[in-house]
Amino acid sequence: MLEQLKELHTQALDELEKIDDPRDLELWRVQYLGKKSRLTQTLRSLAALPLEERRSVGVRANEIKRALQSGLTEKEKILAEARLVLLEREKLDVTLPGRLAPTGRFHVITQALEEICDVFRGMGFQIVEGPDVEWDYYNFEALNIPQYHPARDMFATLWIDSEMDKKARLLRTHTSPMQIRVMEKVRPPIMVVVPGRCYRYEATDATHESMFYQVEGLAVDENITLADLKGTLFEFCRRLFGEQRKVRFRCDYFPFVEPGVEVAIDCLACSRGGCRLCGYTGWIEILGAGMVHPDVLKKIDIDPEVHCGFAFGLGVERVPMLRYGIEDIRLFYSNELRFLKQF
Ligand code: DAH
Repeated sequence: MLEQLKELHTQALDELEKIDDPRDLELWRVQYLGKKSRLTQTLRSLAALPLEERRSVGVRANEIKRALQSGLTEKEKILAEARLVLLEREKLDVTLPGRLAPTGRFHVITQALEEICDVFRGMGFQIVEGPDVEWDYYNFEALNIPQYHPARDMFATLWIDSEMDKKARLLRTHTSPMQIRVMEKVRPPIMVVVPGRCYRYEATDATHESMFYQVEGLAVDENITLADLKGTLFEFCRRLFGEQRKVRFRCDYFPFVEPGVEVAIDCLACSRGGCRLCGYTGWIEILGAGMVHPDVLKKIDIDPEVHCGFAFGLGVERVPMLRYGIEDIRLFYSNELRFLKQF
């Protein structure tokens, strides 16, 4: 009997030693000190033992019971302390300000495109887009700029195929080719604007990039006149640059329009006093435009005796450059976050 108690004692202490979880400790307590435990049973059945044995076993069993109980208390303390350490380590300071997740934004040029298109959408124009890789035919030929025409020099072209090839591909130098693509597809009345990338084979500097954006416009119907062009672009300039803007129309030459005009607004910085922004002229050119050339209409089977229209092309980078006083166009595409985050 004493032998068994001894075994029980060491086994209980061994197991207790390994416990590191309060739930295991409770199981241990039930097993070794609970009502149905061997120890409790032994103590309960002492009366049945012969007197001598009853004594020694009783003493021993009670000793073990106390030892186990104090072991249990000790372990409870250790586990409680460990729990506190853990809680301490997991402590959260709920008063700390949160870390803001970085938010994305639209590129300043995307914003400008959206704004420009919105103004024209409000006037009844539809938005369409076309390919960056274009045929010579659409970029030049159909726009009244045949091979060897001197006007090709206006556009330093990035060729994909040989320039000599009549069916050459190129990176469009302007968005005007979409005028042709649209007129091939739909008959008048037409009112579209075309935002898109354009490319030129040019040394880059503060005002030139080899890739830039334009927004093209085209309106074709019966009885469209230069007055419609003026009204539309006048309104556009004022909506984009402010109600107080003055708008100037002057003659210009583009092979695909007749007459052609250049549209300028009075300088935002000096209101025509003359400054660096406007090159001391008081005016800032922002658009090329004109009445669609009859020869362009004829090429796509639109009778210029019946239909006529106006077209315009706008450099998009100009808009934020003027508005925010950005002096170098290259900033837009240099992926400099400190610059881009400002808009
Ligand atoms: N495509 C011309 C350019 O890139 C701009 C332009 C001028 C477009 C006159 C037009 C226009 O539609 O009528 O310089």
